[in-house]
Amino acid sequence: MKVLGIESSCDETAAAIVTDDRKILGSSVLTQLEHKIYGGVVPEIAARAHLDHIDEIIEDTFKQANLRPDEIDAVAAAAGPGLIGGVVVGVMAGKALALALNKPFIAINHLEGHALAARLSNDVEYPYLLLLVSGGHCQILIVKGVGEFERLGTTIDDAAGEAFDKVAKMLNLGYPGGPMIEKMAELGDENRFVLPRPLANSGDCNLSFSGLKTAVRKIIESYSPDNNIEHAIIRKQDVADICACFQLAATDSLVRKLQKAIGIFKSKYPNGKDLVVSGGVAANTYLREHLKTLAEKEGLIFAAPPIKYCTDNGVMIAWAGMERALKGLYNDLDFKPRPRWPLDGNAPKAAGAGGVKA
Ligand code: KG4
Ligand code: ZN
Repeated sequence: MKVLGIESSCDETAAAIVTDDRKILGSSVLTQLEHKIYGGVVPEIAARAHLDHIDEIIEDTFKQANLRPDEIDAVAAAAGPGLIGGVVVGVMAGKALALALNKPFIAINHLEGHALAARLSNDVEYPYLLLLVSGGHCQILIVKGVGEFERLGTTIDDAAGEAFDKVAKMLNLGYPGGPMIEKMAELGDENRFVLPRPLANSGDCNLSFSGLKTAVRKIIESYSPDNNIEHAIIRKQDVADICACFQLAATDSLVRKLQKAIGIFKSKYPNGKDLVVSGGVAANTYLREHLKTLAEKEGLIFAAPPIKYCTDNGVMIAWAGMERALKGLYNDLDFKPRPRWPLDGNAPKAAGAGGVKA
């Protein structure tokens, strides 16, 4: 069985084709560079850029796979949550293909794409404990099966990736900030500045990054003659030290809350064995290493998608589509894209009588 997946919910226009025996036959990703000068994603520019490139990305994917469109078995598209202008472009492309080819359509929750991605390249079994850390989300979940999630904790303010991006912006490191912070942190002293671990003693699995961001801002302000970060003059080594301390604090906050979540996971599912991290921030090698150490200490197996499939891509949508297709979970062609779509509620169920089915 072969499923095409389409992703367009933020600033990557992407498509991929995967098989039920976990092969990636083609994968094409275009990261929109148009946003760099704005220091963040501009929704209207993103939507137009998706529209300009979606056809060529899908064509390229079929070319890589050496397949004709009618040789796939289903079309999956990320239908939310995300920037609605972009989501609509991918969903419309997916529905049009499904209709023209008379194949089933599958609406994928972008977060489910991230959540299931590790199962494509690792032997991860349900139920597993998941840290989902991206530019828009930061959650700790138990993944019990397709469309079955139990949220143990979430950020009460910024997402983890958002915090990386905001700190990078304050340090003029460009967008997206995560990869730049990671690179600079390698050169820095992570013990130089003391930074807070917000909500460390809250007793639950919730997270917060806004206080950490404010603490970093205060350090940067101290390098400015008038306490204005725009006027701060910081040597490269100081920037590296700030990045290293921030990365340590963010990682430490995530590890502490995961430690708590592991206790809950183990008591609910004594046979559960995997700790998974996914989403754009899961591309961070420093975080991956710390989570691996935590998993080993707790007797769990650490798993994550390969680094290139942590940030948004078509493979994760195609794979989530495959998991749904294998269960016959298809959607009607009138499925409406959802700008907000929490993972632990309201997952789309199998299509009703009017649905296009295999
Ligand atoms: O999953 P993703 O591509 O898009 C969303 O669904 O949000 O995640 C993008 C986020 C950005 O905030 C980016 O800065 C962060 O992932 N990111 C990283 C790294 N690579 C990407 N954060 C930390 N370290 C990285 N190496
Ligand atoms: Zn994402």
